[in-house]
Amino acid sequence: MWLIFFACWWRMIIKLPGLIDPHVHVREPGGTHKEDWKTATSAALAGGFTTILAMPNTQPPVTDDETLNMALSAAHSKARCDYAQFLGAGPDNLESLTDLGPQTAGLKMYLDQTYGPLRLDDMSLWMEHFKSWPRELPIVAHAEGRTLAAVILLAAINDRTIHLAHVSLREEILLIRAAKEKGIKVTCEVAPHHLFLTKADIASIGIGLSEVRPRLASSADQEALWKNLDVIDCFATDHAPHTLEEKNGENPPPGFPGLETALPLLLTAVKEGRLTMQDLILRMYSKPQQIFNIPEQPETWVEIDADEDWEIQAEVFFTRCGWTPFEGRKVHGRVRRVVLRGREVFRDGQVMVHPGFGQNIRQSASTL
Ligand code: DOR
Ligand code: ZN
Repeated sequence: MWLIFFACWWRMIIKLPGLIDPHVHVREPGGTHKEDWKTATSAALAGGFTTILAMPNTQPPVTDDETLNMALSAAHSKARCDYAQFLGAGPDNLESLTDLGPQTAGLKMYLDQTYGPLRLDDMSLWMEHFKSWPRELPIVAHAEGRTLAAVILLAAINDRTIHLAHVSLREEILLIRAAKEKGIKVTCEVAPHHLFLTKADIASIGIGLSEVRPRLASSADQEALWKNLDVIDCFATDHAPHTLEEKNGENPPPGFPGLETALPLLLTAVKEGRLTMQDLILRMYSKPQQIFNIPEQPETWVEIDADEDWEIQAEVFFTRCGWTPFEGRKVHGRVRRVVLRGREVFRDGQVMVHPGFGQNIRQSASTL
């Protein structure tokens, strides 16, 4: 069983499994001024993640054989942690997706407006995708409010399991509870920014910087997420880096970086008694592993200094975007060392491994 404590000099060190982030926007291809496979996977290791699942809303979006290979060949040469790549559901890629499925993390369906062009409005297309995507492979939906109710219904009609990304509202988490109680096969994730920020924080973060989809919600919504923790299957960062210049510009794109802040924020919540370490491991390792069928990484773990108090500062982060909505926040617990497949890959603020060390966890099904 995970969660091993040992004392090293005078500090308490906690050993956790290599964490899994099922929701990361790597930005390569097409957005490497924001992030690329090197910087995203370095940020992942610094944050205690040894596996990330990459979203398909790149430029071009990953929707077919050619674009999947573009993303995977960049990952192959640059990734420092393990990974898989999602495919995006589009209006005209139904058949081609089915064959590519086993090489991917799963199918992502964008059903509400967000960053990039991938959006499916027509519900008959949702039905088609539910029918043609291989049954054993994951489907993740970006669906907010009533769209979330609609996609749960369509998944249930098709007897499909569906994973709901970044749930942020009280009405959503209560609906998911009700669906689970009825035996509908639904799982969900919540992003740390919806657990630790609300719209009351917009003034201090800044209007452009606080743009994110789903938007920061009310404190009642935030409370409902904490109160319904048992309904939340995963904590997923939705790491969505955009540069400071873009965020402060005319038309700020939505999204927050999150890989390097998720674990310290959640460890701080553990210290405050808001959740247990077992709650954290379940949602950042066991459940994502199960939902996304992620293979065991042998000789892999993360060492946390459980006593360290520190202040979040983007300046020292590995993400290329150079900022965080949590700047200046005091947190408790820090990643000291990460070992991945027997190799020390991160130690005391330094990434120790070369680009290309990361492996595609769907490799056996892929050409790369
Ligand atoms: O805020 C967001 N940014 N939400 C999303 O769903 C997409 C993401 C991005 O890619 O920037
Ligand atoms: Zn996202």
